[in-house]
Amino acid sequence: MIDLRGLTKIYKSGEEEVYGLKDLNLVIAKGEFVVVVGPSGCGKSTLLNLIGGIDVPTKGKVIVGGKDLSAFNDRSLTMFRRYNVGFVFQFFNLISTLTASENVELSLKFRKITGETAREEAARFLDLVSLVELKNRFPSELSGGEQQRVAIARALAKNPSILLADEPTGNLDTKSGEKVISVLYSAAKKLDMTTIFVTHDLTFMKMAERVITLRDGEIIDDTKNTTESSLAGEIG
Ligand SMILES: Nc1ncnc2c1ncn2[C@@H]1O[C@H](COP(=O)(O)OP(=O)(O)OP(=O)(O)O)[C@@H](O)[C@H]1O
Ligand SMILES: [Mg+2]
Repeated sequence: MIDLRGLTKIYKSGEEEVYGLKDLNLVIAKGEFVVVVGPSGCGKSTLLNLIGGIDVPTKGKVIVGGKDLSAFNDRSLTMFRRYNVGFVFQFFNLISTLTASENVELSLKFRKITGETAREEAARFLDLVSLVELKNRFPSELSGGEQQRVAIARALAKNPSILLADEPTGNLDTKSGEKVISVLYSAAKKLDMTTIFVTHDLTFMKMAERVITLRDGEIIDDTKNTTESSLAGEIG
């Protein structure tokens, strides 16, 4: 599904060259839920930005579903982002003048789903994140964790093949963060979405099926966890 080959990103800041990623090789299967951890500055966001087509590599290839992103022009890359990738960031980026349902309906509009059908579909996605009762609330009337769950529903409603989450719990307390992770995990599994989840929080590591640890732009560990204590055992 996702095949990264010799992926290198060098940022230029003035005279200085900073490595974001160094010759990284990684294969992620369809439907896999991968957690990426590592210290600040190790390249986690760089990795997501390259996979999601937000940024382009200095060297190496990003191959998604058999397609090499480096062969895409700007327009195809925009289309790739719009139709294939769902993003969830640390800041929820909801539109404050729209209700939870209307925020989700925006994603459905991209898929030409409008009107009553869109309202029903939005409710279905909000139900996936256990938020359907609050669908008519505005973002300001929701807690941080609830807002993040709306943002997840909005990302899922695009029906992307890849879901990228960059520290989606970074601004939440532990309890809300756990809820966000469990709804994200169960929804991604239900929809068979390939998910890459970046977190600083080591407590989530033991629950994940696969944990990739980065340091200085390189993979230093890639562990698969099949024990009962993993999220798969708990929820799936
Ligand atoms: N636009 C940029 N210009 C210059 N250097 C950058 C740029 N973006 C990232 N970097 C550098 O690339 C490296 C990797 O950054 P990245 O944002 O991927 O780290 P991260 O693992 O996401 O960190 P954090 O946990 O703090 O979010 C860091 O050394 C960072 O300073
Ligand atoms: Mg980051």
